[in-house]
Amino acid sequence: MKTVQFELNGKPVSVNAQEDESLLWVIREQLGLTGTKFGCGEGFCGSCTVLMNGEAVRSCTLAAVDAAGSSILTIEGLSKNGVLHPIQEEFVKNDALQCGYCTPGMIMNAYGLLLNNPEPTREEVVIAMDENLCRCGAHGRIIQAIQNAGKKMKKA
Ligand code: FES
Ligand code: FES
Repeated sequence: MKTVQFELNGKPVSVNAQEDESLLWVIREQLGLTGTKFGCGEGFCGSCTVLMNGEAVRSCTLAAVDAAGSSILTIEGLSKNGVLHPIQEEFVKNDALQCGYCTPGMIMNAYGLLLNNPEPTREEVVIAMDENLCRCGAHGRIIQAIQNAGKKMKKA
């Protein structure tokens, strides 16, 4: 067991984690933030995506000990003072979810994309989101929401 310190949604946290314990379970079980979802647990579906130092990562395959000293952002940290982030707003506006299980991972992966490329083409969105799976088949609306959000973020 190791003590691991990192920043979570802008606040310092300290947890005790086994060497092989994933960041996903530390976030969900020790820190109580259940917005980040468990899907496959093997890095294939993207439902567990969070940002680590501004880059989208899969928290199910990242050991919590490897997050030491980093800045982690989860879906809970995206809205500010109760105001939805433009990506969240556009997901709602475009009906870009059905069951919603994939949505936190989709939004965090999209945020990682838009930080690096604020106005991606449809093809760039498709490539960036290709490995985030949605069993409900909401992909078309998800792509539209991400492109709209990029434009809004650029103006803000
Ligand atoms: S739960 Fe992490 S990629 Fe599927
Ligand atoms: S909205 Fe149901 S899995 Fe994507």
